[in-house]
Amino acid sequence: MIPVAKPILSGEEIEEIRAVLDSGILAQGDVVADFEGRFADYVGASYAVATNSGTSALHAALASLGVGEGDEVITTPFTFIATATSIMMQRARPVFCDIDPQTYNIDPDLIAEKVTEKTTAIVVVHLYGLPCDMGPIMEIARDQGLKVVEDACQAHGAEYHGQKAGSIGDAGVFSFYPTKNMTTGEGGMITTSDLEVAERVRIFRNHGQSRRYVHETLGYNYRMTNIAAAIGLSQLKHLDEFNARRRENAGYYDKNLNVKTPFVPEGREHVYHQYTIQVEGREEFIEHLEENGVGYGIHYPIPAHKQPFLKDYGELVLPNAEEASRRVISIPVHPGLTDEERDMVVQTVNSYE
Ligand SMILES: Cc1ncc(COP(=O)(O)O)c(C=O)c1O
Repeated sequence: MIPVAKPILSGEEIEEIRAVLDSGILAQGDVVADFEGRFADYVGASYAVATNSGTSALHAALASLGVGEGDEVITTPFTFIATATSIMMQRARPVFCDIDPQTYNIDPDLIAEKVTEKTTAIVVVHLYGLPCDMGPIMEIARDQGLKVVEDACQAHGAEYHGQKAGSIGDAGVFSFYPTKNMTTGEGGMITTSDLEVAERVRIFRNHGQSRRYVHETLGYNYRMTNIAAAIGLSQLKHLDEFNARRRENAGYYDKNLNVKTPFVPEGREHVYHQYTIQVEGREEFIEHLEENGVGYGIHYPIPAHKQPFLKDYGELVLPNAEEASRRVISIPVHPGLTDEERDMVVQTVNSYE
């Protein structure tokens, strides 16, 4: 079976991990600080703060931007659930706004009508590695006095008019889960150019501790280990290479597939965390992929506002997100894919009647 995702570990990671083991400092330390500095430089943000997952990074970013109890936070329903649950961790309410059916990202034209006097922030998601239309989103946010978090958990290295994802809003958030464009096993990062936000995040991820055993705020243990950061440092060195191969694979699919392929608006650099197509009769298509040994993923089969645990959104209808949930399917685009495997994927998809 050709897997839909697979991390590339070059072997350098082993050396980096061995150095950490030899040092005896396994938890958060200098290696994490080094990874943070390099990641901030890569993204083009002044600061980066590492955490133990993308979810904890989202939670820390929201808390540190002042999102709290009773607030409303506008976001997309067409995302991994952590985008919404991290808002709820702050006892705030996610307000779901429909997507643009062409890009699958939040539709900026629909955001303004969702703003109320309780709205304090917008969390946008650069889904599948394609940046949202950040120009109009930042304009609405600045007009209305709202904070913007970029959930860039799928968009390491993606660009919007030359600016890297994670450097445009008040904070950017990344995940380093093994399926992502780069990994640390589990891990996350917050990027920001606001020193106060960076300091609040640093305290929040370490039990709200400002000095040893002095706890200024409620905080959590969201720290990254030096072992994870060691993996991250060598992965970051190869990120541009990994993304270039993802783009090459995507370009090949764009040219050769006879189905609805991803749409990339002008000025956006897609990093193809997923290559997501649409087909008629998804269930039969899945059977066809399975028979031919082609892995796939459905991102996401249920939009957030229809999840069983969010019953109080009962009657909310967001037609574009709901339609996309019924139709989308992602095929292997990861950088470890061989040319032969890529051809097999093309043949399999194109032979589906
Ligand atoms: C869009 C999005 N947000 C948040 C997350 C959460 O990241 P993690 O799994 O590292 O907690 C993920 C990844 O799984 C994601 O894809």
